Amino acid sequence: MEQSFALPSHLTKPQRYEQFIADFAPLIEGETDITAVLANTAAALHEALGFFWVGFYLVKDSDWLSLGPFQGSVACYRIRRGRGVCGTAWAEARTIVVPDVDAFPGHIACSSLSRSEIVVPLLSAEGCYGVLDIDSDRLSAFDEDDRRGLEQVVRILVSQLFGSAQTAC
Ligand code: SME
Repeated sequence: MEQSFALPSHLTKPQRYEQFIADFAPLIEGETDITAVLANTAAALHEALGFFWVGFYLVKDSDWLSLGPFQGSVACYRIRRGRGVCGTAWAEARTIVVPDVDAFPGHIACSSLSRSEIVVPLLSAEGCYGVLDIDSDRLSAFDEDDRRGLEQVVRILVSQLFGSAQTAC
């Protein structure tokens, strides 16, 4: 399989997400291996949207997230429920956009270069499987277009891997 996810530079951000989603849905269609699908999702998002760090933290027991497939520099292995941006997005079952990580109480700095962050929980009817975590080395890198686009990506992902997706646990 050879497939490029690079996007033309003239597209607006909403157009970039629209094109990404059109390319992404067939990439994961029919594949049920969770690690394989999450790994390709991180790689595709990294190539298409140029994120500094993009990856998954997965629920391993009632209290902890564990590092999953990602693209970027090495990162923290485990995050406790309710801690950091990831643990808070899991505990509160909602997307969190952080314009300035230094202003987020309890932010966990895996890289000193990270400046802003968005975390989208992977929610299905059965519960929360983990989170999609994306970091930028620029302040205020994520807006409503990112939230909408990434929640759509996560809905497709969760429906494929875990059955029906939903917006809250
Ligand atoms: N900043 C995250 C930790 C994970 S790294 O960003 C990869 C947090 O506060 O939960």
